[in-house]
Amino acid sequence: MRHWTQLGEAAIPGTDQSLFLYKGKDDFFIRVSGGLELMSTRKHGSEDALGRIPCQRLKQTQSARVLIGGLGMGFTLAAVLAELGPKAEVTVAELIPEVVDWNRGPLGEHSGQPLDDPRTRVHLGDVAKLLRHSHRCFDVIALDVDNGPEGLTKRANDWLYSTSGIAAAQDALSTDGILAYWSADPDQGFHDRLRRCGFIVDEITVFAHGRKGARHTIWLASING
Ligand SMILES: C[S@@+](CC[C@H](N)C(=O)[O-])C[C@H]1O[C@@H](n2cnc3c(N)ncnc32)[C@H](O)[C@@H]1O
Repeated sequence: MRHWTQLGEAAIPGTDQSLFLYKGKDDFFIRVSGGLELMSTRKHGSEDALGRIPCQRLKQTQSARVLIGGLGMGFTLAAVLAELGPKAEVTVAELIPEVVDWNRGPLGEHSGQPLDDPRTRVHLGDVAKLLRHSHRCFDVIALDVDNGPEGLTKRANDWLYSTSGIAAAQDALSTDGILAYWSADPDQGFHDRLRRCGFIVDEITVFAHGRKGARHTIWLASING
């Protein structure tokens, strides 16, 4: 039986749900109201891949501009930073202020304190709003705000996976930029939607943890392939 201690609770804006931060024996995890586990410090292979793989495909990484939505436990942010040069700038948009506090506190050591990196900028707020106001400015946009196109925590996030959300992300990308989405499950409808928006799409599956067990889906979308 798993023993855990609740360390924090945060309301999810625009919903009647909350996130709960728990400490286990050697790990931390975040659950949504109702008990569904959203993140864990033990399993982050696919969150790492979401940050690492698109950055590895960039032509230049020295001064790349990257947008991540949202922060979670900071693993995608840490993976992006590890691939980029000293003049890079990484904006991480996070809706829930407490999540940022948890990363500055007990979660930080698990991801290597990426919020302390001078290349990191925290944007407290909805990544969708940021996308709507950005034009040709990001070389990579990596989105992991929910469970995937079939959201778990916030219906308003559906827009990010819609045709107009994809179009806004496309407008925010630089010419050779890469748009990456994380999902717990494959979704052919979403894959087709990305293609209909004019993207060349590479769909990959990655292990959630280690080299066996559950796999997650990452879509890498670019205009020039
Ligand atoms: C599954 S977690 C991200 C995990 C992250 N990739 C990692 O490496 O740990 C989802 C995060 O997105 C945040 N979030 C949800 N909707 C958002 C939105 N619309 N804008 C910004 N952040 C959002 C949540 O509060 C949560 O911290």
